[in-house]
Amino acid sequence: MATPRKPIISGNWKMNHNHFEAIQCVQKLHYRLDVDDHENVDVSVHPPFTDIRSIQTVIESDKMKILIGAQNCYFEQKGAFTGEVSAPMLAKLNVTHVIVGHSERREIFGETDEDVNKKVKAVLGNEMTPILCCGETLEEREAGRAEAKVEGQILAGLAGVTKAHVASMVIAYEPIWAIGTGRTATSEDAQNMCAFIRGVVAEACGAEQAEAVRIQYGGSVKPGNIAELMAQPDIDGALVGGASLEADEFAAIVQYRNH
Ligand code: PGA
Repeated sequence: MATPRKPIISGNWKMNHNHFEAIQCVQKLHYRLDVDDHENVDVSVHPPFTDIRSIQTVIESDKMKILIGAQNCYFEQKGAFTGEVSAPMLAKLNVTHVIVGHSERREIFGETDEDVNKKVKAVLGNEMTPILCCGETLEEREAGRAEAKVEGQILAGLAGVTKAHVASMVIAYEPIWAIGTGRTATSEDAQNMCAFIRGVVAEACGAEQAEAVRIQYGGSVKPGNIAELMAQPDIDGALVGGASLEADEFAAIVQYRNH
């Protein structure tokens, strides 16, 4: 029998919200969500680094169930890497989930598949969960190269990762043309690619690992399209950008079962 996978919905705030705004947003989100929501869905927020300590304090002192996430980290443990933040530093703040290889990191900051793989290993090595991002450009999709691109990113990202670790990971499929554009992949396209990713994981790492790994869809997820996406068998959650900045909207996404 298939392992039931607990859905995970993650808010990627990108470079938005200072630490005061972050505290307010987390408090409001906590107020909007109830115990059942947290039982049904893992909810993580991924603020800028400067906010993490502030939200950690609020989340822990009020015993909130919201998971603390980060958007990136460097793969070295420490040293002369001006401007970078290490995985151990994040682990010390009780961060549990770290987005790795987001398309904005790859495209704007030149992160390679090799960097992404090292980051995946650094995150896992510090007992946190990577959210490994993949996704094709519009040009690649139109040229029929979407699957090849995503397969390459997944295989490179998972290279040398132990099977047990693979099973514990989250993969986010985010077609680049759907990010911040208001243009969502159809739930059928999203399902097809998520099923394809599960197949790639099965082939590379084993059927059990593929059954356990959680796959999120990301790209213009909103309260109005989340239910249909979550109804797909291989979509186990969402990575939400713009719509996670406002607590009411993000809570409505987490509560997709109600609509
Ligand atoms: P979006 O961003 O929801 O604003 O499209 C998604 C993401 O980049 O993670």
